[in-house]
Amino acid sequence: MSLLHPTVPSLADFPIRSGFLWGTATAAHQVEGNNISSDWWRSEHSGSPVIVEPSGDAADHFNRWPEDLDLLAQLGLNSYRFSIEWARIEPERGFFSAAMIDHYRRMVAGCLARGITPIVTLQHVTLPSWFRDAGGWAGEAAADLFARYTESVLPVVREGVDWVCTINEPNLQPLMTRLHEQDPAALAAWKGAPMPVPSDAEVADLIAAHRSASQVIRENTDAKAGWTVSVADLQYDPAGQEAAAAWFEAYEAKFLRAAREDDFIGVQNYFRTRFDANGLVPVPADARMTDLWEFYPEALGHAVKTAWEVTEGTPIIVTENGIPTTDDDLRIEFLNTALASLGEAMTSGVDVRGYLHWSAIDNFEWAMGYGPQFGLISFDPQSFKRTVKPSARHYAELVSRLSVH
Ligand code: BGC
Repeated sequence: MSLLHPTVPSLADFPIRSGFLWGTATAAHQVEGNNISSDWWRSEHSGSPVIVEPSGDAADHFNRWPEDLDLLAQLGLNSYRFSIEWARIEPERGFFSAAMIDHYRRMVAGCLARGITPIVTLQHVTLPSWFRDAGGWAGEAAADLFARYTESVLPVVREGVDWVCTINEPNLQPLMTRLHEQDPAALAAWKGAPMPVPSDAEVADLIAAHRSASQVIRENTDAKAGWTVSVADLQYDPAGQEAAAAWFEAYEAKFLRAAREDDFIGVQNYFRTRFDANGLVPVPADARMTDLWEFYPEALGHAVKTAWEVTEGTPIIVTENGIPTTDDDLRIEFLNTALASLGEAMTSGVDVRGYLHWSAIDNFEWAMGYGPQFGLISFDPQSFKRTVKPSARHYAELVSRLSVH
């Protein structure tokens, strides 16, 4: 958290590090298509009042990943974060699909063959429907079931994965649970009301699941294990400090503290959140906006500093950062400023190992469907033809400039 009115740092000062991971990120349900055994697919097709459209074929990344990896490699990116879909690996409790395990093994091998470091997430928002029905993370033996699934995908990790993210954004999972239950408070949160606060029991269940999966990874592979946490840039005026601290404790701090003993922490940031004497400050009417929220790219540098302080020095990968916009020039400006702020944080001593822009390709944005566009690459929903956006080329140039050659 910071009391500040920051100046924008310059990209010219970015500290160039060898081995830095420059890449993009996606998640299975958001780009693969036809993830029919998942809780999200079911909610999309059961009349949820807040889901504007179903995910359908998405970008058909499930079939077209080789072409997508080719594009990313041609851009000179050296890493790619994607998720393994639990609902595909274990579509029914206790049935593990050898074909799906092989699918993700081939993706890992495909990354390596193109000089791309794969960073793999084990669970990104979606859960198998059967696991949701058994109580989700609060269900009996949830952590053991997650560990058993993790064991089943060890062949994928052993194919050559060095970085494994267990659970994506645990701080958002309680909202997801309530959304599937059609809880009115969760439905309101999708329309701008404050998010439901994760209960202590929910936090404990998620930490237990994270720990048991991490243990499976560490005991059986050489990969590093961590989780990826949504970290806001909290800013406050002196009278807002208490409200900011309470918000931070409710939504983020517990998940960051749980990463103190992890091999790394994934930091995901999209905007800032401000507080004054009245609590949360609404985004002013004259603020510069993306298609969903305030345009404030320098939030990234502040968020990684927060994660660094609270984890007491756990190495960081920026596992998501991006902008929902149809204005690709705005994405270019976002990249310049976000990376400059990241460079400034690194120069100040924060150990950042990589930056993965969200998203490689326009994605299904959960309840908001295909409206918001985060991708560096777009696709035609009928032909699935890919188009590399100018912002992707700009990112490629920046990466080339900021890499050791
Ligand atoms: C999630 C992604 C999502 C992105 C943009 C993160 O909360 O991990 O799945 O698409 O933010 O909203």
